[in-house]
Amino acid sequence: MIQYLQEAAAFIRQQTDQFTPDFGIVLGTGLGALVQDIKVAHSLDYADIPHFPVSTVESHSGKLIFGELGGRRVVVMQGRFHYYEGYTMEQVVFPIRVMKLLGIQKLFVSNAAGGLNEEFNTSDLMVITDHINLQPTNPLIGKNIDELGPRFPDMSEPYDQHLVQQALDVSQQHNLQVRTGVYVSVPGPMLETKAEYRYLSTIGADAVGMSTVPEVIAAVHMGLPVFAVSVITDLCVPGKIKKVVLLDILEAAAKAEPNMTLLITELIKRQA
Ligand code: HPA
Repeated sequence: MIQYLQEAAAFIRQQTDQFTPDFGIVLGTGLGALVQDIKVAHSLDYADIPHFPVSTVESHSGKLIFGELGGRRVVVMQGRFHYYEGYTMEQVVFPIRVMKLLGIQKLFVSNAAGGLNEEFNTSDLMVITDHINLQPTNPLIGKNIDELGPRFPDMSEPYDQHLVQQALDVSQQHNLQVRTGVYVSVPGPMLETKAEYRYLSTIGADAVGMSTVPEVIAAVHMGLPVFAVSVITDLCVPGKIKKVVLLDILEAAAKAEPNMTLLITELIKRQA
């Protein structure tokens, strides 16, 4: 595996004139517009990178984009891999590990999620302060890749508290309403029953989605500080539950996109 990762990283360096990104960004469902704010230097299709998985979801385009955002050098994953698509967890986190080999020092992740907290509205942003992993497996199962990190990584603070505080400062400065909360990751691809939503709320989650946690586990394993934010696309609270349609999710995400873009861009600007 480490050899595959190194081969992918070497290919990317060669294709991008040795571009060395400082920060990695993962764009979630319906949140691709951040790319319009990037001064793009290079763009690679996932399909062209050796050993990279290829995206199967139509609402995700699969590209690795290199450029400048807020005056910083970034690499952006436009489109991510989900366990429900049939990838192994090692495939799901492959690009995260490659971005680390390329030199990123921090990881910024976004996703679309259902809101379990009664206070939340659609198109709210929720800064993730902790998570619960309900995926059936995780990317660290199997022989440990010692070159990347330890066998038993600590997970007591997967989301960098300093980045959370900076995000709250940014939101205050720009008059953005931002929530904080716990994200629970489920395998999907079906959405939840009412009983399952109640259960997820009972165990302490504020938002539910089908991604992010495997990526965060892989990042924390490698010692990367992580910031993650959910866009609440549908409400999963008794009395507010409606039949979920992908179009509605994309619409709610699109509405939140300017705020999400502002938050991540301002946060990146503040990094040394
Ligand atoms: N459940 C799971 N994943 C989701 C949801 C949801 O309600 N909304 C967006 N992603």
